[in-house]
Amino acid sequence: MVDIVFYPDELLIQQSEPVEMFDGELAELTDEMIAALAPAKGIGLAAPQIGILKRFFVVHVPDQDPLVFVNPTITESSLDRFDYEEGCLSVPGVYAPVSRPSVITVSAYDAKGTPFVLTADGLMGRVIQHEKDHLEGVLFIDYLPSRRRSRLIEKYEKPLTQFWRE
Ligand code: NI
Repeated sequence: MVDIVFYPDELLIQQSEPVEMFDGELAELTDEMIAALAPAKGIGLAAPQIGILKRFFVVHVPDQDPLVFVNPTITESSLDRFDYEEGCLSVPGVYAPVSRPSVITVSAYDAKGTPFVLTADGLMGRVIQHEKDHLEGVLFIDYLPSRRRSRLIEKYEKPLTQFWRE
């Protein structure tokens, strides 16, 4: 069971530290994070969102296997971009279109420490960029024009409990 950290918690604006040990604890945490996605109706979750300031996240896009990204680096981003409506488990109820590169290449390690390189577009490319931002303390709402951001935040109410937890 993982506890989600909600905006405006300070943990969400911190820079995360590299993972140094690919141990059983990391494997267990990433399994729990993947398991939390379906009930939360989420497709990605980053360690800072469960209060751990380490550089890893999980992604589970429909019809694909779940993926773990540890110490990721985005090595290439296309000049071509597209707008897509994003949301975040840490900012529940808030959705807004964000412009990001259409195609990215990411280098990372899986939970066992095996390196891999992935080129992704569409929803997969989108969620990888969103989750990677969490490791830098950046939220999708940070990309919005300030007036739009303020309007959305005015309406936002931090949940007292995890609405999806049962
Ligand atoms: Ni998020």
